[in-house]
Amino acid sequence: MDVLEAIRSRRSVRKWLPQPVPDELVEQILEAGRWAPSAGNFQPWAFIVIKESQTKERVQKVAEDSKNLSRIWAPYFREGQSRGYIVDLRNVPVGIAIFANQRHAPPHTGGEFGHIIGGSLAAMNMWLAVHELGLGACYWSHMSQDHIKAILGVPHHWDFIGLLGIGYADGDGSPEGYDTANPKYWERKPLEDVAFYEWFKVKKGEQPPAESVALLSQFLGL
Ligand SMILES: Cc1cc2nc3c(=O)[nH]c(=O)nc-3n(C[C@H](O)[C@H](O)[C@H](O)COP(=O)(O)O)c2cc1C
Repeated sequence: MDVLEAIRSRRSVRKWLPQPVPDELVEQILEAGRWAPSAGNFQPWAFIVIKESQTKERVQKVAEDSKNLSRIWAPYFREGQSRGYIVDLRNVPVGIAIFANQRHAPPHTGGEFGHIIGGSLAAMNMWLAVHELGLGACYWSHMSQDHIKAILGVPHHWDFIGLLGIGYADGDGSPEGYDTANPKYWERKPLEDVAFYEWFKVKKGEQPPAESVALLSQFLGL
């Protein structure tokens, strides 16, 4: 599969066959994460493979507790709302939890997010590798930082980036109550709504607002 095709055809898979994922494939996925780019090549990540049922039970408990906490602030996490959908993570054949360490980041301007960006890029590399290897995954990040770190023995100064749940897709990967095939869950905004030229919200062939450009020149000398 070429990269553009993989990017375009990857979908979230939320239901898996009980079939185990061979260790060689898990290692290939981890390798894809290891080759992600990072600021200053600091490689700020750590990946934790989750296969044992006791660990999955703990992850599921953290996910449920975190969701209940989120319900207080976020209405879309309440009953019947598709946005707060969470599968039972005990059914995930293999999980890879991704963490990143701010101390493994360059001490320059803008460096404070370097570890989050690096960890996220590693996650995306792994998600695409999952797809290329004929597997399917979903990604969850809604877990309380302290709790997910505590159950996996991760030191407090690391940040949880997310959990990839990986396995062989059961059908199109739709669990009961969630139609993964429905474009409403994965369609994208049109490109012209998100991509601009030289200036925020300026479309191809248009000019930035003259008044703003004049003020930029007047007050910032730019
Ligand atoms: C940071 C992040 C958090 C996500 N959290 C959830 C989640 O809690 N539950 C879920 O079912 N899917 C979750 N997803 C998957 C998104 O719902 C999915 O990527 C999005 O709907 C687009 O669909 P697609 O992955 O099939 O293109 C998450 C994805 C990301 C990147």
